[in-house]
Amino acid sequence: MSQTHCIILFSLWTLISGYSDDRVRDLMSRYPLIDGHNDLALQLRKLHNNRLNNVNVNNMSNIATDITRLHAGHVQAQMFAVYVMCGAQDKDAVRLTLEQIDVIRRMCTEYKDFELVTSAQELRNSKLRHKIACMLSIEGGHSIDSSLPALRMFYQLGVRSMSLTHTCNTPWAESSSKLYMFYQKQNDSLTSFGKAVVEEMNRLGMIIDLSHTSWGTAQAVLNHSKAPVIFSHSSSYTICNNDRNVPDWLLKELKRNRGLIMVNLHTNFISCKKEANISHVADHFDHIKRIIGADSIGIGSDFEGAVSFPKGLEDVSKYPALIKELLRRNWTEQELADILRRNFIRIFDEVEKMRDQLVYERPSEVQISMEEVQNPCRLVLRHPDSTGSLSEKSHSSSDQSRPLCLALVLLLSNLILL
Ligand SMILES: *[C@@H]1O[C@H](CO)[C@@H](O)[C@H](O)[C@H]1NC(C)=O
Ligand SMILES: *[C@@H]1O[C@H](CO)[C@@H](O)[C@H](O)[C@H]1NC(C)=O
Ligand SMILES: *[C@@H]1O[C@H](CO)[C@@H](O)[C@H](O)[C@H]1NC(C)=O
Ligand SMILES: *[C@@H]1O[C@H](CO)[C@@H](O)[C@H](O)[C@H]1NC(C)=O
Ligand SMILES: [Zn+2]
Repeated sequence: MSQTHCIILFSLWTLISGYSDDRVRDLMSRYPLIDGHNDLALQLRKLHNNRLNNVNVNNMSNIATDITRLHAGHVQAQMFAVYVMCGAQDKDAVRLTLEQIDVIRRMCTEYKDFELVTSAQELRNSKLRHKIACMLSIEGGHSIDSSLPALRMFYQLGVRSMSLTHTCNTPWAESSSKLYMFYQKQNDSLTSFGKAVVEEMNRLGMIIDLSHTSWGTAQAVLNHSKAPVIFSHSSSYTICNNDRNVPDWLLKELKRNRGLIMVNLHTNFISCKKEANISHVADHFDHIKRIIGADSIGIGSDFEGAVSFPKGLEDVSKYPALIKELLRRNWTEQELADILRRNFIRIFDEVEKMRDQLVYERPSEVQISMEEVQNPCRLVLRHPDSTGSLSEKSHSSSDQSRPLCLALVLLLSNLILL
């Protein structure tokens, strides 16, 4: 090939790629992204002990998320995960959850680029106001400590979605992970209390998130929920057979529920290898579209919740590269508008509509039985006997914290006596 040929080809190539960059920018300004999952609050806890005063969220070059790059990536709304480690289950999970809600609420109030939103209408308005909408989503049902009143109070604080498990089972639902041995389910991946949680979330208008649950639990929830549900950060099991991903048969169940799968970008869930690139990610989108259509797909990056991301998608400014690749693979602008934001807004609308239909239902008073929660920290409202010790019905447990818990229980019982 002659030099002139090369030059002509090169200019043609820059022209075309320049054109597609413009096209992506134009599309994403009209349909800016709503991302399903980001663990920035976890990093604030881990790196800064939640001392927001010590950080500048506009520029956090040591992690993948900050306001400057959210703008560059055309991110208009972010579901921020309220996540506490499974190790806090049956201990101080509720306090830690409150602290994570606090730090996200503070961040989204103190930085004027952000705005906390709690309804589909507020989400739509935030786009007109050129704000990045923050949505609070609890990751892991252990955060509610098997209490529907706690769930309701989290709703009052602005939480609008909850994944039923993280990597640990709860007393009432099963995780996809076998990392923790407790609360293992034999034949009951969603217990009757678990069903009550699903019903109460439907009644409140809280989006049910099935990422991290076992497939059995996901199936049971899909059968039971009156409203559409989401996988906020999971990918295709056919493309990468990791248990965190969703098999085709379950995708079809999700479709019947009118739900949404927001594709996780974490390398391990994309290529099942140590490395991945944008082609691998686009393969997930192509496959899921083939199985259930573009109107059931979204994006749930999992930035800050995982360490390794595909080449070209390393931080929150890089989403346009993915949209460019999907355009190259003949996705239409309508389909891309759907996966960028319209699908999520439809789900949120439908969840709210179901809440409105259930408006005459009273708050659920279902309580989990003590037998189902192996937790010595739970206070049993009962007078101590004359020796001051709690005689019957203590839970057998090898837990180290038990003496402390018992002391607290005793103290509280004495206070009640006063
Ligand atoms: C962000 O902070 C880093 C390191 O502190 C600095 O090098 C960089 O210039 C800053 N970027 C912006 C956009 O302010
Ligand atoms: C699971 O439960 C069903 C009905 O509830 C029962 O027929 C089946 O035998 C159970 N399986 C196991 C392994 O316990
Ligand atoms: C869900 O419903 C389908 C049929 O509608 C049934 O075959 C299946 O056993 C149910 N699964 C669970 C876990 O409830
Ligand atoms: C991604 O990696 C695969 C090999 O694993 C390669 O075939 C493909 O061309 C790469 N795509 C990009 C966009 O670099
Ligand atoms: Zn997660």
